[in-house]
This record gives sequence, structure tokens and C-alpha cells, in this order.
Amino acid sequence: MNIIKTKTEIAKYVSEKREQKYSIGFVPTMGALHLGHASLIAFGLKRHHYIVVSIFVNPTQFNNAIDLEKYPRTLEQDTSFLSKYGDKVVIYAPTPQEVYGNQVMSKQYNFKGIETVMEGTHRPGHFDGVGTVLNHLFRQVNPDEAFFGEKDYQQLLIVKKLVEIEKLPLKITGCPIHRQENGLAMSSRNARLTAQQLEEAAFIYKILQQVKKDFDSKSAQALREWVAIQFENNPHLELEYFEISNIKNLRPLSRKRTHQKYRAFIAAFAGDIRLIDNMAIN
Ligand code: PAF
Repeated sequence: MNIIKTKTEIAKYVSEKREQKYSIGFVPTMGALHLGHASLIAFGLKRHHYIVVSIFVNPTQFNNAIDLEKYPRTLEQDTSFLSKYGDKVVIYAPTPQEVYGNQVMSKQYNFKGIETVMEGTHRPGHFDGVGTVLNHLFRQVNPDEAFFGEKDYQQLLIVKKLVEIEKLPLKITGCPIHRQENGLAMSSRNARLTAQQLEEAAFIYKILQQVKKDFDSKSAQALREWVAIQFENNPHLELEYFEISNIKNLRPLSRKRTHQKYRAFIAAFAGDIRLIDNMAIN
């Protein structure tokens, strides 16, 4: 498996492929790869000859030092996970200095309000960190298209805005959420859940499904209250937020509009592990 560690080498790899008229897809990750990442790679390989998978735990997007410290780092396992793709997939695993230079810090972005709700409210500075690292990685890798899971739907909208703001010449594509058999959305953080917590966390998916079922017959406020009660009665999960939002600008729903599309969003804790999920509901 080809592991590239420097920006000079990744630029050389990509420009050689491009000279040979091959196109390049990109799947940025923080490692601890799982089937959700595999589905992004599969999506990418349908459209491009080669896929670069970056594995980089980005320090600037963590607003909680313990979360950063505990984030799983499994490069060896990730390498063997990707070995089945042979030379179709290459890993880019740089150091923080390689990505950022000497100043590992975020640039401040104005993402036009998308950054001020949900994850933005609960994780101050998170999207500046995501925007900054992706701005560096997109420039270093220079792919034709990059793929992101809709599990991080807010992040997907942020990345689309980033590409507009930075005028970057690549396409951003969102891919459907990949779920475990019990419905729990695949996430690198799931690696920290016990077998019991993995089962209990499927509750989040069940709640989203019920919200989707009830969306036509109940008001947004009634749904918010119902969800809050369900979590209050669940001893295993603590709700951080539930929101129903416009899929384009993420403004919270107040009055339903017929032609408008909405998604429901949940962030909840299983012990100290923070999980997020969302679902299109109309
Ligand atoms: O979704 C993630 O894993 C990260 O936020 C990303 C996009 C790789 C940026 O560090």
C-alpha cells in the first residue's frame, strides 16, 4: 500500500496521474476507517481512476482537548483496511507541520450562517478548523472531486461554501449515510463504544425514523418536545440537541412550507462519546 507523507510527494503523484489523463477523487478522513469510508471510496471509484484517502487527525477542529486525545489513531489497521483496493487508492498521511507549516491554527471563515447553528453552537471554532484543514488539503492534493458523508450534513454544506469562498477548482459530492444493521450511523467514534452501547445508540436512528413518520401530522414544536421526552426517559443517552432544519441554509423550522425540504438532526452522548446523526424527513 502506497503511503505518502509529504505534500511534495502527493502533488507529484497527482500531477503524474493527471499527465496520463487519469482523474483523481479524494476522501478526506481522520482515520479509524470503517464501512462508511469504504462506501465513499466505492462512490469515488465509480467516477475516478484513482482515489486519495487522507488520514489526518486535525487538531484545529477539536474544541475539547480530551476528545482530541482520545480520538482513535489506527494507521496500521487503516492501511490493511485499504489494501484490498491495491494501487487504485493511495493514502496521504501527513504530519500537522506538513499540512499547516509552522502555525497550526485556524483561519476565520464566514460561512453565511451555516456555521452558527447546531455543531457550530456546541463546538465553537470547529468549522473554522474543518475549513482551514480542508483548504490546505484540497490545495495539496488538488483532486477533481471530493466525497463527504451526509452523516456530517452540516459539514458537507460548510465544505461546499468553503470551495466557493476559496475559489477552489473541485467538485464536492455528498454521499448517503452508511448504517449498521441496527440503524446506527457509521462513525469513527463508534470504535470507542462498547458492544452494549453500540446497541443502545441505535435509539438515535429510531427517533429520527419516528420524527420522519410524524412530520406531516405534528408541528415542529410538538416533535421537539416529543424527542426531548424520549431522551429524558432513556438512561443510556443524553440529548445535546435536536433540530429540524431547512436543508439549504440549516435555519430551524418554525412554519412548514410546502415545497421546502427539511432534515432532522440529533447530537447525543453515550457516556463521554458524542454521536451525531440526521435524516431527510420530507
Ligand atoms: O469528517 C471528518 O472526518 C473531518 O472533519 C475531515 C473532513 C476529514 C476534516 O478533518
